[in-house]
Amino acid sequence: MYDATIHGVGSSIPIKRLTNADLEKMVGVSDEWVISRTGIKERRVADHSEATSDFAYKAAIGALEDASLNPSDIDMILVATETPDHILPPVASQIQHRLRCSSIGVMDIHATCIGFLSSLQIAEMYIKAGKHKNILVIGADTLSKLTDYTDPYTSILFGDGAGAVIVSRSEETRGTGILSTLLHADGGAFEALFVPGGGSRHPASDEHKAKMVMDGSKVFKLAVKSMTSGAEEILQNNGLRPEDVDWVIPHQANERIIDAVARNLGMPEHKIIKTIQYYGNSCSATIPISLHQATMDGRIKRGDLILMVAFGAGFVWGSALIRY
Ligand code: UT7
Repeated sequence: MYDATIHGVGSSIPIKRLTNADLEKMVGVSDEWVISRTGIKERRVADHSEATSDFAYKAAIGALEDASLNPSDIDMILVATETPDHILPPVASQIQHRLRCSSIGVMDIHATCIGFLSSLQIAEMYIKAGKHKNILVIGADTLSKLTDYTDPYTSILFGDGAGAVIVSRSEETRGTGILSTLLHADGGAFEALFVPGGGSRHPASDEHKAKMVMDGSKVFKLAVKSMTSGAEEILQNNGLRPEDVDWVIPHQANERIIDAVARNLGMPEHKIIKTIQYYGNSCSATIPISLHQATMDGRIKRGDLILMVAFGAGFVWGSALIRY
């Protein structure tokens, strides 16, 4: 078994800002109403000419530069996304083409807001087993394209963007890098957050809307419960306590959810990485964007122990422990 380390990080967010003042004009919500419910001041959204692969590509370039690697060094590309440019083909094959990688294997991972952690687990397994040396893992979404901008409860939450990491084989096995990953699902309550139309149940051509619908109260409570248990379970599996963790990078769905999970875990506020105030919930991109920001501003350093935890529509939840 090899160690699977995070060797480079990058991110890309749209230039266009969607502020609470903009939303006040669109759906009649006040800045105070939005901030008190979500902690979100603004989000970044793609314009009509931009699609998920545009942000995924730029994040990938950033991660390659950070790792001092060339596209020819990459053995596989994984893209976690709910918003591919097209229903088919995969975004990952477009990234392979744009990076001019050789004909390596690629996959899109469709696992809602935990997609980055699902992809990280796949990369971890390939690297630890010795199958590949460098895997490009991207979380990229443009949920603004699925957001109903007549609904105050969903339109305040979501933003767009991408984050990427290179997961690399470490030639020395020192127990560093991705220590552990955990994934769970319970599909019973899927209608509490879903897109009714645009899939094979109700194709885009009929009357079902291809926009997100959500039971916010139900999702809120499921999120707090599943993220708390996902964090507790992975710590317990690895014989660690909350105080052993240097940084928590939670999925950025709602600041109140993040704060409730931190309280349940007994984690002090200064250990929690938050980017939600300025980017909103960018689905599979929230964790790698937050990782990139916190490494760029010097908070996360090599050797720190990071706990990542997420939940998403499905419902699905997962966590990862990384000795960075
Ligand atoms: O990636 C997933 C994306 N979606 C979400 O994360 C959405 C989660 N939901 C929300 O963010 C919020 O419901 C909205 C922002 C959409 C609306 O905010 P709200 O109107 O202030 O909240 P709410 O009343 O709809 O729901 C919050 C629920 C309440 O339950 P009841 O009274 O409706 O049964 C609260 O009592 O969550 C409850 N709650 C908590 N549950 C567990 C509040 N604090 C906590 C807590 N732990 N700490």
